[in-house]
Amino acid sequence: MNAQLFAQIANAVQSSSVHGWLVIDRDYKIVFVNDAFCRLWHIDRENLLDKSLLDIFYNGNKKDKNDSYHGPLIETIDTGREFPLMEACLSNHYDNSYIWYLASTFLLREPETEPRYAVGVYVPIDKFKMIEARLDGINISIIKAFCKAIGIRDTYTKQHSEHVAALMVELAEFMEMPREGVTIAYLAGIVHDVGKLGVPERILNKPGLLNDNEYESIKRHAITGADILADINGFDTIASIVRHHHERFDGRGYPVGLAGDAIPIYSRMLAVCDAYDAMTTARCYREPYPVRQALDEIQRCSGTQFDPEISEAFIRFMEQSRIKTDLQDLAT
Ligand SMILES: [Fe+2]
Repeated sequence: MNAQLFAQIANAVQSSSVHGWLVIDRDYKIVFVNDAFCRLWHIDRENLLDKSLLDIFYNGNKKDKNDSYHGPLIETIDTGREFPLMEACLSNHYDNSYIWYLASTFLLREPETEPRYAVGVYVPIDKFKMIEARLDGINISIIKAFCKAIGIRDTYTKQHSEHVAALMVELAEFMEMPREGVTIAYLAGIVHDVGKLGVPERILNKPGLLNDNEYESIKRHAITGADILADINGFDTIASIVRHHHERFDGRGYPVGLAGDAIPIYSRMLAVCDAYDAMTTARCYREPYPVRQALDEIQRCSGTQFDPEISEAFIRFMEQSRIKTDLQDLAT
């Protein structure tokens, strides 16, 4: 890259230490990268400079199986189309975590020559805030009111719902669901236990075994939750997912006894995420399961309580994600 261009970029970059900057040439070779970009993706500069962007992030391919460009920067250098602020998600090459970001891209122009470089500016964003931003204002206020009500009534259920929503999002991304699917997964996770507002507190937090009547009262939370949500405009799908989140793959669950694919896919995902979080969280009556033991339990119940494909995806995702570090810690 010539000195003048380099100076232009260096000037711009200095004013923005939190934004990752990357410059590629027409062969997708990375010719410039700033410290913020390296920090963002946990990659050393020497593993990026003079390497192909395609090789590092996209296995050498510039398009995915749907013939869409993998990233806005590649599209910009190929087609000249520039993006002001594009929402995107990238798998971290080294630890398989996901990073959500807004990318702005533009071509670097020199007077009277064809553009030879494209610049990408990346800003990390909070994915939950972004999912919430996609919902309309009224619905997000309703969801927030529910979360508050759940939290006032029962701190454990509020925290559990947030954990489950986070797991649902990660699992949906791992299963390569479309963006709308990730949003549904998030919403279903946040509200799945809203029906517990209808369960008496002495039963909800009872430390010992429940008698038959108490157990029936707990079981009703799936239907109660669905009935509450069905009254919200546009929430029919979420209501149905919540109604069936305690069904079992073998048909021995509640409230209806649906089996296999007859259970909505998000309910089958919820069953696994819900059980995992319940097992790995401390309760007043028991210690939390270690991660490995909880995953073994999901494996053991795969095909009976849980959908085998979803169980397998969940276990793979947990093993490959950040949790992997925890597992390695446990193994040593
Ligand atoms: Fe539940």
